[in-house]
Amino acid sequence: MDNLRIDGDRLWQSLMDLAQIGATAKGGVCRLALTDVDREGRDLFVRWAEEAGCTVKVDAVGNIFARRPGRNPDLAPVMVGSHLDSQPTGGKFDGAYGVLAALEIVRSLNDLGFETERPVEIVAWTNEEGSRFPPAMMGSGAFAGEFRLEKVLATKTVDGPTVGEELKRIGYAGPEPLGGRPVYAYFEAHIEQGPILEAEERPVGVVEAIQGIRWYDVTITGMEAHAGPTPMEVRKDALLAAAKMVEAVNATALAHPPHGRGTVGEFRIMPGSRNVIPGSVEMSIDIRHPDADALAAMDGELRSALERICDAAGIDGRIEQIWYSPPTPFDAGCVAAVRRAAERVGEPFMPITSGAGHDAKYMAQVCPAAMVFIPCKDGISHNEIEDATPEDVATGCAVLLHAVVEKALETT
Ligand code: GLV
Ligand code: MN
Ligand code: MN
Repeated sequence: MDNLRIDGDRLWQSLMDLAQIGATAKGGVCRLALTDVDREGRDLFVRWAEEAGCTVKVDAVGNIFARRPGRNPDLAPVMVGSHLDSQPTGGKFDGAYGVLAALEIVRSLNDLGFETERPVEIVAWTNEEGSRFPPAMMGSGAFAGEFRLEKVLATKTVDGPTVGEELKRIGYAGPEPLGGRPVYAYFEAHIEQGPILEAEERPVGVVEAIQGIRWYDVTITGMEAHAGPTPMEVRKDALLAAAKMVEAVNATALAHPPHGRGTVGEFRIMPGSRNVIPGSVEMSIDIRHPDADALAAMDGELRSALERICDAAGIDGRIEQIWYSPPTPFDAGCVAAVRRAAERVGEPFMPITSGAGHDAKYMAQVCPAAMVFIPCKDGISHNEIEDATPEDVATGCAVLLHAVVEKALETT
């Protein structure tokens, strides 16, 4: 165990090479799930994994598994990975880091001629971001039995095609059955996507839990009318009500400090004409809290705010929760393995709760799981300026390596 190390330069170079696929002018990445650039990113990862001697398999929702054998093929694998898709204005690290850190582990074990008892399986999950096809963490959720295959394949994007159609089109509708096989442990490395590690000057976060998330679709329906002749007091302006609802989402999150979060990220105004009073608005809501009861209270507050706003305006408001990801504590044994790994690597670390959702959330439902965080610059992600240092990238990967190897040497 003492000679275990990774090649930080090689990992950094691979991250920069992958970031060329879907590169944006501002230095970020736009590699939306199941687009042509997603296919290119997947193809490059598959090539690298095969060059590293892995056997690559793809399942029915396009999750990619690249396996390095262990001494005992009958033992369930240690799985390690993340996702290759990005947000529309995404960065180079969100997701890609976790997949390529896993690849670097395999490459390093190869270099060292290090044999594990269990297979080590790199995974690249489909559509973690949920930005083109909601909800987020779709591939891992399907693997964990949370989402039915038919429902996943039928999920439509606003621009038309379904997940099933896009998987076929890009050649990643694989033959492997979905989930239903034992995984011994799951680890995922990721940038923190928040400011804590940087502020505390700790290059490693030992992630103990993921906070809860609720996603909603809201439709507010008023009445279109002429912008000129219609007096202000008789209007049924859907946008005006929606604007008050945006304010209410913000107020709800602020009413649950310091952890409450509330975001309206999508907004569509119909008919969208300068001289027509908006007849209807569709908007998304994302609320988060590490405590399930607090998140449920926020849910109630949002619903009554919508009712109050719409009743006062005499218009119709509907809210539908389309996704609930409850707060998830990680497995104590895997968290301890990450802590021991951080001690071995010898860099400062601290416990942390994840503010973002991750594929590890759904994996935690089917096997022991935990995560390793590294800082990102100014805590910014889901932005093209997302950044991390080569040193922190290497440190996090070294921690991941030690945790994975510890579990992959266990035979019982
Ligand atoms: C995933 O990126 C999420 O936290 O929404
Ligand atoms: Mn991510
Ligand atoms: Mn993300």
